[in-house]
Amino acid sequence: MTRTPLIAGNWKMNTNLAEAEQLAAATARAAADLLDRDVMIAPPFTAIAQVADLLHDSRVILAAQNICWAEKGAFTGEISPPMLKELGVSMAIVGHSERRHIFGESDALINRRVTGAMEHQLVPVLCIGETLDERESERTKAVLEKQLRAGLVEITVNDPAALVLAYEPVWAIGTGKTAAPAEAQEIHAFIRKLLAAMFEKDIASQIRILYGGSVVPDNIDALMGQEDVDGALVGGAALKAESFERIIHFNG
Ligand code: 13P
Repeated sequence: MTRTPLIAGNWKMNTNLAEAEQLAAATARAAADLLDRDVMIAPPFTAIAQVADLLHDSRVILAAQNICWAEKGAFTGEISPPMLKELGVSMAIVGHSERRHIFGESDALINRRVTGAMEHQLVPVLCIGETLDERESERTKAVLEKQLRAGLVEITVNDPAALVLAYEPVWAIGTGKTAAPAEAQEIHAFIRKLLAAMFEKDIASQIRILYGGSVVPDNIDALMGQEDVDGALVGGAALKAESFERIIHFNG
């Protein structure tokens, strides 16, 4: 059983065109020698076309930060799977905590996004994670189970590469607080157990589960040393070429 590590940079609502091009080019150079792992970046929609050109012939996978389920029509403000595919996008972040908590996206809506992505052979990176309040009231596992099951309602996975999960505790995002590696491992093992109850065991054992939340050069090696941590979803540290280079070159 092998799970190819995946290090993903989520640029969120950052970078103008010139900054995006510079960062994408630097990331492509930094990833050129990394044959044993995958590297993904999710620029803002406004920079995707330019970044796609720069990533052509590179090892870096291009992702969107969100995705609609419909192919076209009256969905103001949304971007469809065919629109993204036309630009060379192959993955899409779905259900990020900022979408859930700032923009009120529900599990049911997120499930439609996951379904739409998969129907178009785009790989969703489904994010789940508990808030500080939920953690302090010991509801972490219940919250994660609900988000996972509801996000994956009526989803069939025949190919473990067709779906990626990201555990992003909300209290760790942009705060400088990271889950301790052992704690991340415990939660990732719990998520994998849930996956095994939902899908075939062989499939569940091969689906990649990323950790996200204040991942930086100083903690990536310890996180990647954990058995069920298959990669990272990196925010702030993916916006600086040197720190993202160090992160994708993790030893773990
Ligand atoms: P930070 O790495 O800035 O904490 O953000 C994590 C995140 O939300 C990635 O999607």
